[in-house]
Amino acid sequence: MMKLGLFIQGGGHHVAAWRHPSTPYGASQSMAHHAEIAGLAELGRFDMIFFADSLVSFGPDDLEVWKRGAAVSRIEPVTMLSALSVLTKNIGLVATFSTSFIEPYYVARLFASLDKISGGRAGWNLVTSAAPSEPHSFSRTAHAPAAERYARAGEFADVVLGLWNTWEDDAFIEDRENGLYFDPAKMHYLNHKGDHFQVRGPLNIRRSPQGHPVIVQAGQSEAGRELAARTTEVIFGVQQQIEPARQFRDDIHARAIRYGRDPAAIKIMPGVMPFVAPTRAQAQEKFEEMQSLIHPDLGIRVISEMIGVDLRGYDLDGPLPEVQAIVGQSGRQQVVMDMARRDNLSIRQVYQRVAGARAHRIIHGSPADVADDLEEWYKKGAADGFNIMPPLFPDGLKDFVDLVVPELQRRGLFRREYEGKTLRENLGLPFPVHRKKEGRES
Ligand SMILES: Cc1cc2nc3c(=O)[nH]c(=O)nc-3n(C[C@H](O)[C@H](O)[C@H](O)COP(=O)(O)O)c2cc1C
Repeated sequence: MMKLGLFIQGGGHHVAAWRHPSTPYGASQSMAHHAEIAGLAELGRFDMIFFADSLVSFGPDDLEVWKRGAAVSRIEPVTMLSALSVLTKNIGLVATFSTSFIEPYYVARLFASLDKISGGRAGWNLVTSAAPSEPHSFSRTAHAPAAERYARAGEFADVVLGLWNTWEDDAFIEDRENGLYFDPAKMHYLNHKGDHFQVRGPLNIRRSPQGHPVIVQAGQSEAGRELAARTTEVIFGVQQQIEPARQFRDDIHARAIRYGRDPAAIKIMPGVMPFVAPTRAQAQEKFEEMQSLIHPDLGIRVISEMIGVDLRGYDLDGPLPEVQAIVGQSGRQQVVMDMARRDNLSIRQVYQRVAGARAHRIIHGSPADVADDLEEWYKKGAADGFNIMPPLFPDGLKDFVDLVVPELQRRGLFRREYEGKTLRENLGLPFPVHRKKEGRES
């Protein structure tokens, strides 16, 4: 069965969503708004909801542009998901946390706690962070080079996974008669000593109901793919076309096999922004209405960040300049540059095409059109599922749940009921057996 994740973003994923009349004022800060979205997603039997994150609002150079964007003010994702966990029952809860600024113990504890609170529905989206202003929130002026950030991220993931493994599943016996709370033979120190971290353990929380929270990642570069193939269970993709997406999935599978992993235990979910309406013409109308709301300064800034070149002052009707590979974001840079060259687009045309969905794929059409597209990607091995990015919340999500989900269910491509209780069970991922039980650790 196809997997569906819902990428939640304030009033909607379209860069101009907050300007649309249907979007509630203050959407990104409203608990009621997020509760409505999570409830709708669960009604639509989505596998998981997902929150991205950034550790900064904007830098001084960006003020003039970001005053037009809604992403400058966001609630911390794990905090939001903790609240949503008590309002939902089945849906997975995935939050972003960067490996570049803090210690792994903190992240291991945070997500183990979310997993406990939610009864086994937590996931961690591991990012290395790339927004240029983020270091300024952490007593630094610049990011470490991408290779260094990925080296730290790899060790960070090892420590987090190791800490999640410091207790066996049945360590806490609570033997009241003999006064023994846990069995020390089922506790294991981590004793990690690496280049970046030295962590003894154990973690101060029991093993997770799902073995450990699901690990999610979106890196597209060589280092990103390697890390994903070694440690990750869900991968967000950015590919715009079926063939590169299929190649990306095959590449991850081949790398996973080299790490001794079963490729079926990795779900690859490219992002899609769907504009769906009962008829094609109505869907087109919705799409054009949203595009007309993109402020040009914002559109230009969004692609400048993606390709790593400040495009202010360039001729908007000329081509994109040649660019050098940039630190971070190289996956998206490649997607944008390839598209511009392939379709011979001017800067203006590029920003109109990609700024709305921030380089993710846009599909518009009737419910059957959208279902056809998703079905083709799924059946041709380009995706295990999709990271759905509605242009508007809640209306764009309502359209998807009311119109597309029933069509996918009718075609036998998507569940009618949740299969399991945990995120891992619903995604069809194996339960990570404790290393001690596998005989890998004494
Ligand atoms: C769907 C999706 C969500 C992402 N969410 C975040 C995020 O919340 N925070 C962040 O710093 N980076 C985020 N990223 C960026 C990725 O973590 C990664 O840096 C980017 O894809 C470039 O990868 P590369 O450096 O390996 O090319 C996201 C990427 C995608 C495709």
